Amino acid sequence: MHRRTLLAACLAAPLFPLLSRAQTDHSAQPDHAAMGHAMPAAPAAGASPRPPAGAPLAAWPTLGAQASLHATPGVLDWGNGLHSPSWGYNQPALGPLFDWQAGQPVRIDFANALPEASNVHWHGLDVPASEDGHPRDAVLAGGQRRYQFTVPDRAGLFWYHPHPHGRTAFQVAMGLAGPIRVRRHDEPLPVDGIDEQVLMVTDQRLLADGQIAPHSDADWMDGREGDLLLVNGQYQPVLSVQAGQWLRLRLINACAARYLTLSLPGHAWVQIGTDGGYLATALPPARILQLVPGQRADVLVALDAAPGSRVVLQSLPYARGKMVSAEQSQPEALLTVQYRPQAAVKRPHLPARLAEIQPLPAPAIRREVVLSETMRMDGGTHQMAFLINQRSYDDMDRADFTGRVGQVEEWTVHNRSDMDHPFHLHGAAFQIRWRQATGQRRQPEPWLGWHDVVNLRPGESLALRFVQRQAGDRLFHCHILEHEDQGMMATLRVVG
Ligand code: C2O
Ligand code: CU
Ligand code: CU
Repeated sequence: MHRRTLLAACLAAPLFPLLSRAQTDHSAQPDHAAMGHAMPAAPAAGASPRPPAGAPLAAWPTLGAQASLHATPGVLDWGNGLHSPSWGYNQPALGPLFDWQAGQPVRIDFANALPEASNVHWHGLDVPASEDGHPRDAVLAGGQRRYQFTVPDRAGLFWYHPHPHGRTAFQVAMGLAGPIRVRRHDEPLPVDGIDEQVLMVTDQRLLADGQIAPHSDADWMDGREGDLLLVNGQYQPVLSVQAGQWLRLRLINACAARYLTLSLPGHAWVQIGTDGGYLATALPPARILQLVPGQRADVLVALDAAPGSRVVLQSLPYARGKMVSAEQSQPEALLTVQYRPQAAVKRPHLPARLAEIQPLPAPAIRREVVLSETMRMDGGTHQMAFLINQRSYDDMDRADFTGRVGQVEEWTVHNRSDMDHPFHLHGAAFQIRWRQATGQRRQPEPWLGWHDVVNLRPGESLALRFVQRQAGDRLFHCHILEHEDQGMMATLRVVG
């Protein structure tokens, strides 16, 4: 049933009082304690203190395939006396960029210095299920483990983040996430004349004293958006560029719930890659680039503005059917692109073909996946439930589907709710076959690419195909982390 119908039916009179009270009144909040959330009293959502802006974009600390990764509490120093106790990998927040080669053996020694269980999920990489940060394989506080796998043969941009049961949203909000870049020996683009930057976008909300704001009740429904948009952990940094070159941005939306609608005024996006690597050919130039939580894009921008000029990379408002919080209403600045004064240089030609992508053949098995939300009365409190095929992820050992290694699957995913949900699958990249917006005809997907996250608008359905190459339990879930934590997640058990 649709949420607004339900809200109207079961909450009729108290609806608006309940929702407006929800930010401050503890008694009205859903019972997250039952799911293991420690729920501190939710503060009224005020504006975060602003960190100083305008520092040069810093280079990522970079690690290779043999490394140590320590999840650890730290203190973020924003400058101007603003400090935030936070969690990070090897640093106060976020983590190093892993730079790997396809086929390379990886050995990461993970130590968990956090006060609670955590693990590492290699988002988008089809590594063995035992190495992929399944919530069952959480590393207890103070514990350690080694992650070992071979880098899959897929050039692209991936990322890592914690995936413990019910605690992912909290841990990511505290700062845990980092990028992974995989290159192959046959990279299609020239090296000269292309300025490549990995940009991981996150958002944060701080209390007046700098502490990371705890989740509010509204956050648990809508997904948490912070009012500070950060690029590589920095607040409105400056990227200096050379006129005439290509700027290659490798973008990750690592926000828990914020949709990004990226615009660089006066410039166009030429998309050359998706979540799972290169497209066969570049897409036509576009003014807007949408990136939903979990998604990545590889884009080229022709730097054709005047030397010395500057332009602001921004995210335009997008309404995603939030239940409680206000929708985005104005553009948000992410980063300033500052052209150096030097005269424009010539940029290299791009190859016509970037990669070979074969459409996956007809499926051996078809399944239906339904995303839904319901609100129910539970012991006098209103509790939201976020479901997949009417079930909540409350059993880490349950198989919702059983599939076979090497078999082509076709899933039709339906969003039967009033909010957008970004659907994500572990263990394999998928190809989208068609999409059908509510009340519209089915549209075949116009181009072929590899994805591991795809957005579904309310009422939308779409079909995707994939093949799992290794046995094990693979999760699929909404990548709004609060929805994932509250049960909008399920298991595909792949058997040999
Ligand atoms: Cu990035 Cu299961 O997620
Ligand atoms: Cu993932
Ligand atoms: Cu969702």
